Amino acid sequence: MHDNSVAVVGLGYVGLPLAILAQNKGYRVTGLEYDKRKVDMIRAGVSPFVEESVTTWLADNQLDVTQDYERLREVASIIVCVPTPVDETYTPDLGPVISACTEIARRLRPGQLVVIESTINPGVCDEVVLPLLEKQSGLKCGVDFFLAHCPERINPGDPKWNVGNIARVVGGHDQKSLDLAYEFYSRIVDAPIRRMGSLKEAEAVKVVENSFRDVNIAFVNELAMSFTKLGIDVVNVINGAATKPFAFMPHYPGAGVGGHCIPVDPYYLIEYARKNGFEHDFLSSARSINNQMPEFTVDQVESALEHHGRSMKGAKVAVMGLSYKANVGDLRESPSLRILEHLSERGADIVVHDPYIHGYGEYKRSFSGVPEEFAFFENTEGRSQLELTSAMKGADAVIIATAHREYVQLSPEDFKDAGVNIIVDGRNCLNKSALTSAGFTYRGIGR
Ligand SMILES: NC(=O)c1ccc[n+]([C@@H]2O[C@H](COP(=O)([O-])OP(=O)(O)OC[C@H]3O[C@@H](n4cnc5c(N)ncnc54)[C@H](O)[C@@H]3O)[C@@H](O)[C@H]2O)c1
Repeated sequence: MHDNSVAVVGLGYVGLPLAILAQNKGYRVTGLEYDKRKVDMIRAGVSPFVEESVTTWLADNQLDVTQDYERLREVASIIVCVPTPVDETYTPDLGPVISACTEIARRLRPGQLVVIESTINPGVCDEVVLPLLEKQSGLKCGVDFFLAHCPERINPGDPKWNVGNIARVVGGHDQKSLDLAYEFYSRIVDAPIRRMGSLKEAEAVKVVENSFRDVNIAFVNELAMSFTKLGIDVVNVINGAATKPFAFMPHYPGAGVGGHCIPVDPYYLIEYARKNGFEHDFLSSARSINNQMPEFTVDQVESALEHHGRSMKGAKVAVMGLSYKANVGDLRESPSLRILEHLSERGADIVVHDPYIHGYGEYKRSFSGVPEEFAFFENTEGRSQLELTSAMKGADAVIIATAHREYVQLSPEDFKDAGVNIIVDGRNCLNKSALTSAGFTYRGIGR
C-alpha cells in the first residue's frame, strides 16, 4: 500500500475540501497554496471562501498549510487542484498547471504519484504534464513515478453532493499509476470510482459533462429568446415537456452561464479539437448563445423602460446579485459582471447588491467600463435586509441577476415599498403571476 501522506496543491474550492476530506480519512495532509493571504486565513482557521462545511471544519481543526514547495518531497502522493481558466479571448490558459507541475518536477522523487484534478482537455496529461515532469526530474513515468488524472466534480454550495460522496473516474498513464490513484480515491470517497482506459478518456469525461450542460442550457436560452418574440412562456413549456417520463431532461434559461467550469471547459475541448483539425461548431454555437444572455437581459430592461416612456440613459437600475450562482459568493465568469458592462454602456445609473460578496476591490478588477463610484452595499452582519431594501429604493428597474435566497423571498409588497415598477427576473425565480396581477411590469427570461 502507498504511504498515507498526501500534498494538495492549490487550496481553492476544489483543493481545500479535498485536503479536509483526506485528513478526515486518516491521511497526513500538506496543503500547498501560493497565495499568502489564503495560507494565513487557513492557518487562522478561517475559510478563504463561503462554504459552510469548510468554515465549520476549520473552526475546530488544523490543516498543515505551506507556501514551501520543498515540502512536496515528504509525501507519497501529490494532487494538483490549480485553476484552469480562459483569457479574454476565451483561449485556455494552462499557465497555473504548468507552473505547479514545474515546481513538482523539480522535487519529484521515485515512487511518488502525481494526480491532476484540475479540469483539462484531453491530451494535457500526455502532451504537457508528462513531458514536463520527466524532463525536469530526469525520472521515467510508469517506472520511477506515476501519473493519473481524476477530474473533480464538486458543486460548491450543494447541500447533497460533496467531495466525499460524488462518484469519480480515474485514468492512469500505466497500470500502476491507475491502481495507485484508484486506491487513493477509494479510500476517501464513499461512492463508486470508475477506471477509465487512459488519461485522455478521463480528461474527456469532464469536458463532456460540462459541455453537455452548456449545450442544454444554450438550447433553452435560444428558446427563451425566440419565445419572447412569439409570446410563449418558455418555463411553462419546459415544465410541460418535463412531464414526459423519458427522453427529456429539463434545463432552464437564465441571464447567463457563469462559474469556473461550464462557460470555460468547452473552450478547452474546442481549442484542442481545432488544433487537431476538427471544428466543434455545435459547442461554439452553444457558447456564443450563452454569452449573449447578459445582453438579452439588459435588452429586457431597456424595452420595459421604453414601455414606460423612459430611456436607459440616467435610469436607476438595481442589479441584485453579483455572483454567478445562488447563495455563494463566487464572481468567476459571472454574467452579472457582463450585465453591469452593458448597463454602463447604455448610460444606466447602476446600484449593485450582493449579500455574499465580501468586499468590493476584488471584483472591481474583474471587469471594465463600470463607473467605480457606483453604490455597493457590502454585507455586514445584521444589516443585510436594510441594505437590500436601500439598494432597490427608488430604482426605475430591478434586475434579479442571481437567485440568492434573499431575492427569491421578495414579495410584491417589498417591491412596492421600494417604489419599484419594473422587475426583470433574470433567473425566473420570482412569482410572475403574483407580480403581474399586482400591477408590476415583469419580464423574465423567455416568459
Ligand atoms: N470550483 C468548482 O466548482 C470546480 C468543480 C470541478 C472542477 N473544478 C476545477 O478544479 C480546478 C480548481 O478550481 P477551483 O475552483 O478550486 O479554483 P480556485 O481558484 O478556487 O483554487 C485554485 C487555487 O490554486 C492556487 N494556485 C494557483 N496556482 C498555484 C500554484 N502554482 N501553486 C500553488 N497554488 C496555486 C490559487 O491561489 C487558488 O487558491 C480548476 O481546473 C477547475 O476547473 C472546479
